[in-house]
Amino acid sequence: MRSRILGTGSYAPKQVLTNADLETMVETSDSWIVERTGIRERRVAAPGEACSDLGVLAAQQALADANVQASQLDLIVVATCTGDSPLPSTASLIQHRLGAVKAAACDISAACCGFVYGLSVADAYVRTGYRYVLVIGAEVMSSIIDWTDRNTCVLFGDGAGAAVVGPTEDDHGILSLHLHSDGRLSDLICVPGGGSRIPPSERMVIDRLPFIKMRGNETFKIAVKTMEDAVREATSAHGFGIDDVDWLVPHQANVRILKAVGQRLRLPLERIAVNLTRYGNTSAASIPLALDEAVKNGTIQTGHVVVMAAFGSGLTWASGIMRW
Ligand code: UT7
Repeated sequence: MRSRILGTGSYAPKQVLTNADLETMVETSDSWIVERTGIRERRVAAPGEACSDLGVLAAQQALADANVQASQLDLIVVATCTGDSPLPSTASLIQHRLGAVKAAACDISAACCGFVYGLSVADAYVRTGYRYVLVIGAEVMSSIIDWTDRNTCVLFGDGAGAAVVGPTEDDHGILSLHLHSDGRLSDLICVPGGGSRIPPSERMVIDRLPFIKMRGNETFKIAVKTMEDAVREATSAHGFGIDDVDWLVPHQANVRILKAVGQRLRLPLERIAVNLTRYGNTSAASIPLALDEAVKNGTIQTGHVVVMAAFGSGLTWASGIMRW
C-alpha cells in the first residue's frame, strides 16, 4: 500500500502588491525585480488575516476536491514559519475551524521545504494505517518582512496550499520522498529574533531582528545545486530518467534558479510549473499552490510523473516523486 494525494486546494489573499507599489517603498525598480527574479506581483494578507485563515480556506477546497469530510481526518500537519502565534500550533487552530474532531494536529518547521516534509509525515502515517491526513503549507511572509530592506521585501508573498493524503493500492500516488538538511548553513536565511535566543523586546524590534535576513547570492548558488541533486535523487530512486518526468513542481523562489536547474537537468522550462510571477516566494505554500493550479487547470493529468523539489532555510532541501 502507498499514499496518494486525493485532492488539492489553495488560497491567496486578495490584496495584490505590484513591483510598481514596491518602487514607492524602497529604492528598487520593476525592471530589476523582473530581471533578477521573474516576480511581477505578490499577494499580501489583509490586516488581521493570519496563517490559519489562509490555511483553512485552502484546506476546505482540498477536502471538497478529495470528497473527504473534515470529521474523517486522522491528522493535520501545517508547514509554516509564520504561524498565528508561537503557541498553540496553527494546525490546532485549523483543526477546530474545520471541525476535524478526531484529528491530531501539529506544525512542521522546515521553511520552504515544509510541504514536502509534511507530505513525508502524511505518507508514513498512511502507510501505517491512518486513513486521511491533511497537509497544509501556509504562510503570511508579509508578517516577517522588513519593508525597509530591498534585498528581501521584493521577494516574498503570502498564500496557502493544501493536500488530502490517503491510501491507494494501485500504481498511482507518492512513490518516494527524500529529505535533507545541513545546519552549518543555518545563517543563510534566518529570522534572528523573537525566539528563545533573542526573546521579544523593544530593542530587538528597533534592531529589525524579528524580520527575515537572507544572503541571497550565496543561497542562489546552493539552491541550484541542491534542487538539481534532489530531482536526480527522486528520479533515480525509481530507475527513471529526466525524460520520464512530465512535470517538475519546484519551490518558487526565483525564475533564474528554475531556469538554471532546468538547464543542468536538460529539462525544458515548458515542463516546469512556474507561478512565482504572480505570487513571489510563498515559502512552504509555494509547492502546494503551484501544484493545485497545475492540477486544476489540467496541466497535470492522471498518469503523469510529477517531481517536487524544494530548498530553504535550515538549510533544508527535499524532493518527492508521484505518479498522478
Ligand atoms: O526560499 C528561500 C530561498 N531564497 C532564495 O532562493 C533566494 C535566492 N537568491 C536570489 O534569488 C537572488 O540572489 C536575489 C534575487 C535575492 C538577488 O539577486 P542577485 O542577482 O543575487 O543580486 P545581488 O544580491 O548580488 O545584488 C546585486 C545588486 C546589489 O547592489 P551592488 O552591491 O551591486 O551595488 C544589491 O544591493 O543589486 C542590489 N539589489 C537591488 N537593487 C534593486 C538588491 N536588491 C535590490 C532591489 N532592487 N530590490
